[in-house]
Amino acid sequence: MAVKVAINGYGNIGKRVADAVAKQNDMELVGVAKTRPNFEAFVAREKGYPLYASDEAKIAAFEAVGLEVAGSTKDMLHEADVVVDATPEGMGAQNLQSIYKPLGIKAIFEGGEKHDAIGASFNAYCNYKDALGKDYVRVVSCNTTGLCRSLSAIDNLAGIKKVRAVLVRRGADPVQVKKGPINAIIPNPPTVPSHHGPDVNTVMPQWNIATIAVLVPTTLMHQHNIMVEVESGVSREEVLTEFYSHMRLMLVRAGDGLGSTAEIIELSRDLGRPRYDLWEIPIWEESVNVVDQEVFYMQGVHQEADIILDNIDCIRAVTETEKDPQTSIRKTDKAMGVMGSFRPPQCLEDKPEEVRDIHSKLWGIE
Ligand SMILES: NC(=O)c1ccc[n+]([C@@H]2O[C@H](COP(=O)([O-])OP(=O)(O)OC[C@H]3O[C@@H](n4cnc5c(N)ncnc54)[C@H](OP(=O)(O)O)[C@@H]3O)[C@@H](O)[C@H]2O)c1
Repeated sequence: MAVKVAINGYGNIGKRVADAVAKQNDMELVGVAKTRPNFEAFVAREKGYPLYASDEAKIAAFEAVGLEVAGSTKDMLHEADVVVDATPEGMGAQNLQSIYKPLGIKAIFEGGEKHDAIGASFNAYCNYKDALGKDYVRVVSCNTTGLCRSLSAIDNLAGIKKVRAVLVRRGADPVQVKKGPINAIIPNPPTVPSHHGPDVNTVMPQWNIATIAVLVPTTLMHQHNIMVEVESGVSREEVLTEFYSHMRLMLVRAGDGLGSTAEIIELSRDLGRPRYDLWEIPIWEESVNVVDQEVFYMQGVHQEADIILDNIDCIRAVTETEKDPQTSIRKTDKAMGVMGSFRPPQCLEDKPEEVRDIHSKLWGIE
């Protein structure tokens, strides 16, 4: 039977999770809740998503512009097995206490909530099984998800001794007209290390990681510069092969004309991705290097898109509709059209059998 999923908060993340839920054959979208009848409410109606007002007093405003609503958020939650809370930062933790706990509904939160306020954090590549059957789980932020994905690949391959990372963060999302900076680079936070390392530790407490972050005037993507001391000796080729073996990582080459976040987003547009969403973490092939048992690489993070996959896996984990991480990850990737690396890294170009083996494993083909 399909899991019934409600989406509370239909902004950047909520609308993407709603679309992703609608694509899964083991999930049913019972509705989306909003505070106001703006253009996103009309789009939800066009898509056939049942629309709910955040509270009863707001229903009239929707009806006044001709939008039919199915009720209030509480009515929506009565129809659902689980709610994904994608309301603005900090509101999720309030909703947990004031709405979800009293109603006894399972809830998934986003990275804007504090780990301690929710009690558990999630990344599908790192700790899927820890979320099995839990009532309240937070999917870690876009930056943390990006770090967790590529670092878990390195950890599998060679064991992580120490991570140092510099995060160049987008100043705002494309729709955020009132946020900046527009002509500055802001150390953000100005204190070192930044909160991103401790956030990674909410899913992988054993990793020694410290991060520094700045904000820059761009809306397209974040960009990470990562240095990892590893436990055992590895070659550059082994690291590239490991990255290539993960569907949610995408090796890209500057030499192919993908030398910037702008060109990577253009690739995503050319691929016909909805809203140009790049669910995979792009890693610049040329940047991958190993020096004295230290792995170096640069990656991008499409902040609006990467976490959508983990939200879907988290729904399966908390409802225990799928207990095996790999099976859930594969289902999600298949339904979404995740494609992995743009093409094999140069070191595998003359090894078609190895490439075939990797593909078979990725798709679970014996
Ligand atoms: N944007 C990113 O890049 C990103 C990446 C990773 C994680 N996150 C996290 O995801 C969460 C959501 O962020 P977002 O970027 O999607 O924010 P957002 O675009 O501002 O969307 C949140 C939406 O919630 C709606 N809302 C406000 N109060 C509500 C209420 N009481 N009940 C129901 N809906 C309400 C608002 O729309 P209406 O007022 O029109 O209803 C708003 O559009 C945050 O925790 C954030 O930190 C964001």
